[in-house]
Amino acid sequence: MISREDVEKAIPELEWIGDEKLREKVIDVWIEALKRGGWSRIDEVPFTLSFKNSGTLVEHTRRVANLVRNVALARDENINMDFLLAGALLHDIGKALEYEKVGDEIRVSEYGKKVRHPISGANLARELGLPEEVAHIIESHSHEGDKMKRSKESIIVHHCDFIDFELRREESERD
Ligand SMILES: [Fe+2]
Repeated sequence: MISREDVEKAIPELEWIGDEKLREKVIDVWIEALKRGGWSRIDEVPFTLSFKNSGTLVEHTRRVANLVRNVALARDENINMDFLLAGALLHDIGKALEYEKVGDEIRVSEYGKKVRHPISGANLARELGLPEEVAHIIESHSHEGDKMKRSKESIIVHHCDFIDFELRREESERD
């Protein structure tokens, strides 16, 4: 069983969310997704199965949270930092449902073959009472959002996510 303390310790960037209720809900979603996905440790969930040695979902999530915060701080637009950070910290949470660990193997789950992580993550966030602005960031962060009008916060998460994805892929292909 993964505790709130486990999540807080693994993701110190949670502290950047000023609204305590929102921060608690972000933790709720992490715990529920890990539980439903059958994970016994938070660092078992991989970043991606799209390339080898991608590292963990937590590492990717933390890098994206750092990137989005720095982008927002560098901009003059009115950006909701709490929604932005909550969205960044939850954007890939659906991967805890899209992937599963069977023995030593990590593979795409039956559910994951039908529902990609942006959709499953946004649905779970809505179910647990996260604001629609945060669910929107999760739902639209990847290609699903290409046909939608992304919010400012979603535009930032979308691009920062791909920056991290592409840089990590480069790195892993050189190894
Ligand atoms: Fe991502």
